Amino acid sequence: MKGVILAGGSGTRLHPLTKITNKHLLPLYNKPVIFHAVEKLVSAGIDKIMLVASPQYIEDFVSVLGSGSNWKSRNTSDKQVQIVYGIQNEPTGIADGLWIAKDFIGVDSVVLHLGDNIIFEDLEKHVQNFKSGAKIFVKRVRDPERFGVATIDESGRVIEIIEKPKTPVSDLAVTGIYIYDNSVFDRMIGMPKSERGEYEITWVNNQFIDTGDLEAVHITGDWFDVGTFESLLTASLYVKEKHDSEQKGS
Ligand code: DAU
Repeated sequence: MKGVILAGGSGTRLHPLTKITNKHLLPLYNKPVIFHAVEKLVSAGIDKIMLVASPQYIEDFVSVLGSGSNWKSRNTSDKQVQIVYGIQNEPTGIADGLWIAKDFIGVDSVVLHLGDNIIFEDLEKHVQNFKSGAKIFVKRVRDPERFGVATIDESGRVIEIIEKPKTPVSDLAVTGIYIYDNSVFDRMIGMPKSERGEYEITWVNNQFIDTGDLEAVHITGDWFDVGTFESLLTASLYVKEKHDSEQKGS
């Protein structure tokens, strides 16, 4: 299993903070936002990661994350984590960002982690028991219109995902962590752009739903998408609290 972290996009919702840097390089209390995705993948046993970013900031990511040598592989104790870099010229969508990693992924499966998502859920077991198809992680939220929203049937099965619906039919948000088998790339062939001009990951997920190959896991841990001022602050305070209580306990 390989990992892909997306850290491109324009981040306009965080202007002026993101006029001089990328949102994933902003501080989340004591670390840059992007550290959380790296650490989440490493703790799930992933030791080969591609970080995809825009040309403008790629060097900043290299400065901050380097080759990955600051992290040890969970699988082989004497092995370091390897981080490589992919460039997305324009922010043409999350699915496009994943496509950039196609050769890096080769014949493997992949965990796709959106760089602005902070998830407090143990991914290791979900990675380990993944067999095929797609696995998404959903959570009930108060503001579903900000996200991909899952429609479920009476048995709780996801039957459709709608990207940022104006009037959401459920409060079940799709988080920015996805596990795919290698068929994801074939399924993307012929993908249309959405009305907002992006290759949507929601479209890809709906392809897996159509063939009955998507599993949705309801997460119990906390989750933040730090794409707004409010959520960036809330997540920072949450991380500080967690950090302080760990310090006290140690
Ligand atoms: O946070 C979860 C949500 O993320 C999902 O519920 C939505 O279905 C999904 O579309 C996405 O929505 P956002 O509006 O939050 O996406 P955003 O444009 O903020 O980009 C999410 C991450 O992906 C962010 O870390 C930047 C990166 N990205 C985004 C685009 C559009 C790229 O690397 N390249 C891109 O072209």
